[in-house]
Amino acid sequence: MATVAINPLLIALPKGRMAEQSLELLQRAGLSLPDDAGRKLIIPSMDGTLRYIMAKPTDVPTFIEYGAADIGVCGLETLRESGRNVYEPLLLPFGHCRLSLIGLADQPDTPLRYMSQPRVGTKYPRLTTSFFRERGVNAEIIALNGSIELAPLVGLADLIVDIIETGNTMRANGLTELRVIMHSQAVLIVNRAAYRLKADAIQQVITALRSVLITNASI
Ligand code: PRP
Repeated sequence: MATVAINPLLIALPKGRMAEQSLELLQRAGLSLPDDAGRKLIIPSMDGTLRYIMAKPTDVPTFIEYGAADIGVCGLETLRESGRNVYEPLLLPFGHCRLSLIGLADQPDTPLRYMSQPRVGTKYPRLTTSFFRERGVNAEIIALNGSIELAPLVGLADLIVDIIETGNTMRANGLTELRVIMHSQAVLIVNRAAYRLKADAIQQVITALRSVLITNASI
């Protein structure tokens, strides 16, 4: 009887600040890590049982929703901003930060309802739009891609919505946190169809990760 070859699971990891912690967690769960494959974009694991891609963090939910990758790691705030429809089986113990409304430290903290058309710079236009809309404030959202803290310093925006991890960037630039919009941390995400079609392989990964988290929690 002919056997159908099933490709090894494809795992999308975020480049940048969460890359190292993602790999460390996978290793502790006993998963085979990516082989150092030079400029190859799809990297087989050292034992050939898995495949990896290292993606821009904001692209990870897209890869997963479309089934271009089976399993991924991204920040909860990135996932909510993306609005992508994926299965979220597990919160992961790193990437803790908060998405906050931030303003100049030497300006008065005006209650939101008295703000008249504030200009708000952010990498999170969807979440920022909802935040102000839910509070009945007509804000002008200015979408930016990085160095968001610059915006109020050079008069591009009155306020920003951005991630605070240590708070160092904010403080170093004379800014202050005005409201917490959401708390965030890393989350494991899975393509909904793959979760059914590759149930055994995916469940093995989830179980292995969960057992590391449980062992950690009980120390
Ligand atoms: C993020 C975020 C803040 C900073 C917060 O930027 O946009 O600028 O980190 O971290 P902290 O509270 O520990 O200082 P990132 O380093 O991802 O680069 P970016 O400015 O290019 O987006």
